[in-house]
Amino acid sequence: MKNLDQDIKSVVVSKERIEEICQTLGERITKDYRDKDLICIGLLKGCSFFMTDLLKYVDTHLEIEYMDVSSYHGSTESTGEVKINLDLSRSIEGKDLLIVEDIVETGTTLNSIIDLLTYRKAKSIEIVTLLDKPNRRKIPMTPKYIGETIPDEFVVGYGLDYNENYRNMDYIGLLKEEVYKKS
Ligand code: PRP
Ligand code: MN
Ligand code: MG
Repeated sequence: MKNLDQDIKSVVVSKERIEEICQTLGERITKDYRDKDLICIGLLKGCSFFMTDLLKYVDTHLEIEYMDVSSYHGSTESTGEVKINLDLSRSIEGKDLLIVEDIVETGTTLNSIIDLLTYRKAKSIEIVTLLDKPNRRKIPMTPKYIGETIPDEFVVGYGLDYNENYRNMDYIGLLKEEVYKKS
C-alpha cells in the first residue's frame, strides 16, 4: 500500500479506467477536430494530469495553452466574476477551443471562462472533463466529452486536491472523513 492510499476510503476511478477514458475520449476528439484549428486550453491546476494523458491519444494538429482562474464559489452572481491568475499566451480569435477540466461541479468556473473566450471571439468552444458532478450544478451546462459521471462526494487524486494535497495520486478516490476532521 502506498503512503497516500491510507487516507482513501475507496477507489472511484481506477488508474486502468482513467487510461481507458483517455483513449476513448482522445479518439472521439481526433475525429471531431480533424481539419479544425484546435487549441486545447487546460485549466490549472486540476487539469494537469488528465490533460497530458488525454492529449497523447489525440492524433491531430493542436496547440496547448493553459489558464488559471479562480471563480468566486458561493457567489450568486457568477457571470464574469473570475480572477485570472494566468492568462493565455496568444489570441484565440477564430479558433476552435477545447477546454480541458478535471471536474465540473457548479459550472461557475467554466461559465466565466466561456464568457471570456466568447468575448475574445473564439470560433467554437467545447468542454472535455474527466469527471462530472451534475448534482452540484448551479449554472446549466453539459460538457460535450465526459469521462465519468459521479455522485456528490469528495474525491481527490489525479489532479484533484484537498487543501492542495493528493493531486499526485494516479487514481481518483474518496477521502476518509477522519482526514477532513484533522484539519
Ligand atoms: C476545481 C476544479 C474545477 C472547478 C470545478 O478547481 O478543478 O476547475 O473547481 O468547480 P465549479 O464547477 O464549481 O466551478 P479549483 O478552483 O479548486 O482549482 P484547482 O484546479 O487549482 O484545484
Ligand atoms: Mn480546477
Ligand atoms: Mg481545487
